[in-house]
Amino acid sequence: MKKNQETIFVCKNCGNEFNKWLGQCSGCGEWNSLKEVKSSSSLSSLSRKWSSRTKIGKEVKIVNLGEKNEKDSSTSLGMTHVFSTEISEFDRVLGKGIVRGSVVLFSGEPGIGKSTLLTQLIGKIGGLYVAGEESSQQIGLRVNRLGLDAKKFDILETNSIEEILELVERTNNVYKIAIVDSIQVMSSENATGVIGSVSQIKDSAFRLIELAKKTGVAIFIVGHVTKDGDIAGPKLLEHMVDTVLYFEGEKNGDLRILRSTKNRFGPTDEVGVFKMEEKGLREIKSEEINLIGAGEAKVGSVTTIVIEGTRPMAIEIQALVTESFSPMPKRNFVGVDFNRAQLLIAVAQKTLGIPLYKYDVFLSVTGGMKIEDTGMDLAVVAAMWSSYKEKPINPSVPSGHLPLTKGRNKNGLVFIGEVSLLGEVKKVKNMEKREKEAKSLGRDVIYINSIRELKGL
Ligand code: TYD
Ligand code: MG
Repeated sequence: MKKNQETIFVCKNCGNEFNKWLGQCSGCGEWNSLKEVKSSSSLSSLSRKWSSRTKIGKEVKIVNLGEKNEKDSSTSLGMTHVFSTEISEFDRVLGKGIVRGSVVLFSGEPGIGKSTLLTQLIGKIGGLYVAGEESSQQIGLRVNRLGLDAKKFDILETNSIEEILELVERTNNVYKIAIVDSIQVMSSENATGVIGSVSQIKDSAFRLIELAKKTGVAIFIVGHVTKDGDIAGPKLLEHMVDTVLYFEGEKNGDLRILRSTKNRFGPTDEVGVFKMEEKGLREIKSEEINLIGAGEAKVGSVTTIVIEGTRPMAIEIQALVTESFSPMPKRNFVGVDFNRAQLLIAVAQKTLGIPLYKYDVFLSVTGGMKIEDTGMDLAVVAAMWSSYKEKPINPSVPSGHLPLTKGRNKNGLVFIGEVSLLGEVKKVKNMEKREKEAKSLGRDVIYINSIRELKGL
């Protein structure tokens, strides 16, 4: 046991271990990411196990591909390799659907709706729900509330990986999918350390992956994204699993985006859009995505078209720029990346000459979506300009200034473009798609080359 008490340094980004501190992790290249871990959460025990497992022993098996395919097509469930989630937004993100025996890491901040969506998934296709965080009664209540078929649910209340393995192996081929909610509360007898420690999480996930490959059950591992600085987050597992999904949104908004950041079997540029409602998460179709209220342009409000995945969405950016009474002006951004917004504030200050250093700046994306598309840069700057000048941008557009409009467009204009450090407006990808979307909403796209031209609007 003494050995387990050593001090090690674990990279909070990739989980690599080192026996001395380094400024940069040589595993993933991240700076300042090593954290000292005392106690028994050493992973060396895990790697020892891995090597003993792969040691050549009595049984060395080879698989003949021909035989394997025959065997696969005659499993007792008669399933093909890929089956649908019966939730089209979910299928879209996964590729075609769920791949047998695959392992999906389902990450997101606590409270974002991971359990809700996965409960709905089982409600559609049936399966095993391993409840590590909630009791079966609590899940039962949720199932009722969501109006799902309780018969589709087998719930195993446990925190023990061994119990999961035992059940899934014993009930061979009964389940197409199993949800493990969440990996942070699972414990494996093979690992040392307390529940939630790096070694417990890694070993638990490793054994679930083995289980999936062995039995063909597709396993969804729920992982809570932890505060920056915590090491035992789902990032540790990303390189081990087949697919990594992130469920995101602003907590006080109701829109959620499902994104894949790694996918062995499908695209990584698709997103699924959901709305959190009374009765759980509802899929949002393209037509519904347009979140903007039509009508007169308002002070501090600008519309843009972003592309998330492959679809265009019209969104409204709101900015509130007010004189600050604090030596540290407030910066509060909802749905806009913090660093990106900071940069746009700096560019606006320099190029438009507005003294934002003494103004509080609040930005928000309607519906509370988190947008990553830099095509909204221009709209963010335009919204700040509008709020600073206290005039709506649209009505004063001089006629002839815009290639697409004659004079005013009462439905409002759409601002699209990435803003460079020099204040130039750059074209972004999928411009035609965005223009088409703007047109279908009866709006025109404004074309300018530099944010300096906002001054004339
Ligand atoms: P949950 O799925 O428990 O989040 P996670 O598993 O990611 O931690 O969702 C929690 C929130 O969702 C909670 O604040 C209540 C809300 N919610 C709804 O608005 N409608 C619903 O039908 C359900 C089940 C939850
Ligand atoms: Mg949950």
